[in-house]
Amino acid sequence: AIRSKLVAGNWKMHGGTLQNRDLLNAVLSATADLSGVELAVCVPYPYLPQVQSILQGTNVSWGAQNVSQHEKGAYTGEVSASMLLDFGCRYVIVGHSERRALYGEDSHTVALKFRAAQSVGVIPILCVGETLEQREAGITEQVVAKQLEAVVKSAGINALGTAVLAYEPVWAIGTGKTASPAQAQEVHSFIRGRIAADAAEVAEGLKILYGGSVKAANAAELFAMPDIDGGLIGGASLVAEEFIAIARAAK
Ligand code: G3H
Repeated sequence: AIRSKLVAGNWKMHGGTLQNRDLLNAVLSATADLSGVELAVCVPYPYLPQVQSILQGTNVSWGAQNVSQHEKGAYTGEVSASMLLDFGCRYVIVGHSERRALYGEDSHTVALKFRAAQSVGVIPILCVGETLEQREAGITEQVVAKQLEAVVKSAGINALGTAVLAYEPVWAIGTGKTASPAQAQEVHSFIRGRIAADAAEVAEGLKILYGGSVKAANAAELFAMPDIDGGLIGGASLVAEEFIAIARAAK
C-alpha cells in the first residue's frame, strides 16, 4: 500500500495518572515489535506532560483532542497550538462531532482550529461525519463534503497534504453500532475522490481514518478496505488488550 496505517486512540474525558501509566506501559510492551503501523493517543490536556514523558522516544506518538483557534491572549480556559507543540504533540483532533454537537463548533471555527494547528506544525486530525437523520435522508455525501469544504476553502487543498482525516458517522460513535466495511469504504472513497478532483497527489497520500465503535473484533475487516487507512478509536482505546489487538489488525 502507498499509505501506511495509523491507529489513534481518542481517550475523550477519561484517564487518571495511574490508569494512564498502566495502559501506556501495556501498549508499549505489546507493540514494540510492530512495524509499518503508526500508533498515537490523544489525551486530555493535563496528562500531556505525563504522556510525553512515558512515550518520548517510543513507537507511540501523542496529541490532544482540541485546540484554540487563537494564537494567544485573553481566552480563559483555552489551550493554544504552540502549547501543544511545547508538550511534543504530533497530532490534535479538530472538529470531533462531540465538539460540534456539544460545544457549538461550526465548520468555520473548525477550519480556524485546523489552521492554528498546522501553523505550528501540529498535524490536525479533522473529523467529519453525518448523523443518523442525515444518513436516512440520503444526504451523507453532501454533509461530509460541506464539512470538508469549509476547511479546504480556508486552508487550501494542499493543506490536506499535512493533515489526517477521520470519517466518523455520528450514529456509530459510542453506540456499539459500527458502519459496515462497505458503508465506510463508500464514504472514504467519496472523500478521496473529491479531493483527487482538485489535487490527485494530495488525495493519494492522505490518510483517512474510520472512527465509530471500532473494536478488536471488527478492526481487521474495516482496515482491509482500500480507502480506510486506520482508525480513530474511542472506547476501545482505553482497554489495553483491545487497543493492542486493533493496532495489530492494522498490520
Ligand atoms: O474519536 C473517536 C470516535 O468518536 C469513536 O468513539 O470508538 O467510542 O465509538 P468510539
